[in-house]
Amino acid sequence: MNKEIYMAGPWVTEFEEKIVLDALRNGWYGKNAYAYVEKFEAEFAAYHDRQFALMTPNCTTAIHLLLAGLGITEGDEVIVPECTWIASAAPITYQRAKTVFVDIDPVNWCVDPLKLEDKITDKTKAVIVVDLYGNMPDMDALQEICDRRGIYLIEDAAESLGSMYKGKRAGKFGVGSVFSFHRTKTITTGEGGMLLLDNKELYERCKFLRDHGRAPGTYFNTEVTFKYMPSNLLASLGYAQFLRIDELVEKKRWIWKKFMEHLSDVPDLHFNPEPAHVLNGVWCTALVFGKSHGVTKQYMMDEFTKMGLPSRPFFYPLTFLPAFNGPCEEGRKNSPVAYDISERGINLPCAFSVTEQQIETISNAMKSILEKRKGHDFGIQHSTQKIPTDNASAPY
Ligand SMILES: Cc1ncc(COP(=O)(O)O)c(C=O)c1O
Repeated sequence: MNKEIYMAGPWVTEFEEKIVLDALRNGWYGKNAYAYVEKFEAEFAAYHDRQFALMTPNCTTAIHLLLAGLGITEGDEVIVPECTWIASAAPITYQRAKTVFVDIDPVNWCVDPLKLEDKITDKTKAVIVVDLYGNMPDMDALQEICDRRGIYLIEDAAESLGSMYKGKRAGKFGVGSVFSFHRTKTITTGEGGMLLLDNKELYERCKFLRDHGRAPGTYFNTEVTFKYMPSNLLASLGYAQFLRIDELVEKKRWIWKKFMEHLSDVPDLHFNPEPAHVLNGVWCTALVFGKSHGVTKQYMMDEFTKMGLPSRPFFYPLTFLPAFNGPCEEGRKNSPVAYDISERGINLPCAFSVTEQQIETISNAMKSILEKRKGHDFGIQHSTQKIPTDNASAPY
């Protein structure tokens, strides 16, 4: 029987149930009240070769905490890639700093170092580099630019748990890195995030900012700050999932490999890349249709919907979104690669429940859609992305 195909969702087993039950029964008093948070933070930091970790309610708050910890505020500029989830950029606005958008690399879909330098001004404080869909940017080049120009590199590793770049884990780059444990991510706590750091002073500052501006154990607040404290119960789930990380990353990679295998007879399809120096954790299998296919993401998603199949759009360029006063012609001019790739990209179902039979069903559906479009010209180079009528799959 072919079960329903889900776009995203976790893999939770009896192993997690036992650990969460322990937290539920015992994780409330004295030393136990934050025991799973402390264990999860310590082991997650060690795994990523970082000195310090702070669990947060989600990844968005982890980014916010780091920007605040670095003292980024009104009058400062922070650079983000055009194509990412809005969460990478929203905390810049929370801090009343200015968001500056940079184009992406045509192959790895992450910040293009060749375009970054032009965006740096004397107001620039940081660049938030995103490991999109598990792909790794050219970290050496980006770090070199940041060091030379005296700006912080922040790594948004929300989507790259398990990825590696030249033998270093995603999450080891820059002054700090952040992860997401959202329901749709490789390991989940339902909602959750983590901030990783190496600098003790910055860690102490972020820890202070995380809990209402007070020294631990005191009720004496010296600043008005945030309440971004983690839950021990959720940390127990994160910790249990983390102990299964190899198995979880392997399944994500399996989904990606199976899609490539079932679509190997179709030319000009571009999946998450994995160059020799990268291991891709492939949080989500993404696919960019080569121009020879003449299809837009909206066309493909609409056809999928008609067939009852889920899909999601490749991230819209942020300057295209009304949230950033888009659609904006200047954004398109400044970031032609982001607009072009985003127009032709979709995300394929990457729930842990996905079976090979389902991958085959989706692949065959895609082949029939592409076959039907052969010879048609969508005029992609002239088209504009449309405000979406989104696919029927889960909204989050
Ligand atoms: C690249 C990126 N950054 C940040 C986030 C924010 O994560 P969260 O939903 O845990 O706040 C996400 C989550 O979807 C993401 O994909």
